[in-house]
This record gives sequence, C-alpha cells and structure tokens, in this order.
Amino acid sequence: MNTKNKCARDRLILALDVNTMEEARELVTELKDYVGVFKVGLQLFTSVGPDIIKMIRDEGREIFFDGKFHDIPNTVAKASANLIKHGVTFFNIHTIGGSKMISTTVKLAKETAKSLGLPKPTILGVTILTSFGQRTLTEELLISQNIDDYVGKLAKLGRDSGLDGIIASATDIPKIRKECGEDFIILCPAIRPTWSVVNDQIRVVTPSDAIKSGVDYLVVGRPITSATDRVSAAKLVLDEVEEAIAEMACAPTE
Ligand code: C5P
Repeated sequence: MNTKNKCARDRLILALDVNTMEEARELVTELKDYVGVFKVGLQLFTSVGPDIIKMIRDEGREIFFDGKFHDIPNTVAKASANLIKHGVTFFNIHTIGGSKMISTTVKLAKETAKSLGLPKPTILGVTILTSFGQRTLTEELLISQNIDDYVGKLAKLGRDSGLDGIIASATDIPKIRKECGEDFIILCPAIRPTWSVVNDQIRVVTPSDAIKSGVDYLVVGRPITSATDRVSAAKLVLDEVEEAIAEMACAPTE
C-alpha cells in the first residue's frame, strides 16, 4: 500500500484544530475540494464527540483521527475498533506501547473493518513526540540512545508489528526509509510553504521538499486555516504538491 497512485488532493490532510462543530463545518465545506483527508485531534473530539466524524464523512471526505492511543493492548485494540465503526480510515497509536499493543490493535482493527465491509484502515505509529528533545529523553525518560536512532528503531518496531506507516518530521525520512523500506507510509506535519508564517513549529519543510524527500501525506494546519483567503492558500499548497509530484515522475532514473 502506498500513495503513488493518489492525486495531490488525497495526499493533503488538513488539521481541524478548532473547538466547535460550526468552525469545523465551515472549514470542511469551504476546503473539501482541495483536501482529501481532515485531521480530528483530541481538542476537537473532546469538544464535539463522534458527530464530527459523521459530518466529515457526509461531506465525502476521509478522517485521520489523531488520538495517539497508548494503553494496554486490549484497551487500545477495542478503542481502535470503535473508531473504525465510526468510519475513521486513518488513526495513530504510540509505538512505545510495544509490539503486543500494536499487533493486537492492527489485527482487531483490520478484522473489524473487514467484517463491516469498510475500507482497510491505515494505522500509523507515533515515535518520539516532537516536543521531546535529546535532553528530556535522556534526563527524564532515562533513555541514553541518540534520539534520531531511537526514532528509527521505534519506526521499525512499528513496521515489524504490522503498522502501515509512521508520523515523522521530514528530517527523519532517510533513516525511516532505510529501516522500514519504500512502502512504509510516512505522514509529515510541520509543513510550511515559503509564503507562510512558521508559528511554533521548529523543524519545518515546504510542501515541495516534503514530497521530493518521499513523504506520502502532508498535514497542514495554520498556513491554510489562518490565511485571509483560505481557498487560495489551499490551492497554492495543492499546486506546489502537484508540481513536486510531476517533477518526481519526470526525474531521470539513475
Ligand atoms: O498549524 P500546523 O500546520 O502547525 O498544524 C500541524 C498539525 O499537526 C497540528 O494539528 C499538530 O498537532 C500536528 N502535529 C505536529 N507535529 C507533530 C505531530 C502532530 O504539528 N509531531
């Protein structure tokens, strides 16, 4: 499973970092022609509940549920099955939950989708949160490994335990591709077109550079949602993604 046959729109995920159904609905109806997947995180879900998933599905778009589950295997697997029943197609869990938590979840989620005749879910792993640096990893979690190597090892644990892909920053891609291969899906946040404001993100990458470095899905929030003209901003991002995909297709093979 990879994104090679997907169009630019279906590789663009818009982060719905808002508090109410009204704000979310406004973004979805305004931007659904330019965005294939809408990301629902804990902020919106804890405010609105499962109705948000129905609303996005009714508009004909897919949902990435960014809930970063991490608990005992039984709990994460059953919560994931419930997400599938609501119609979520992408969701994520922490790789640090270990191989049993991951494999139990993957098995139950895929069985649930199959038994309901729903599309196979795309289950992604979270490695080390970008809010962690080497110091916090070493001094607070007492993990002495180099943080980049650790991210690569957790991605490999995820792949070996059955995950479809991983959430990663663009700088992690070479290591993840080396550990996990070309077909492992990489979803990358902290995307910033050159014309946008960086906000609180630290290691940002442009949509074009992300595609060219091998990212499958791009998560974009404020460059589009905070723009004065959101449709124009979304079109600009989409054009940049389309151009990068075309350039990749025409690049000479070595
Ligand atoms: O507005 P912005 O484009 O920075 O939004 C990025 C989205 O991706 C947010 O919803 C944020 O929570 C999420 N995210 C991130 N960095 C990660 C994982 C998720 O920015 N490492």
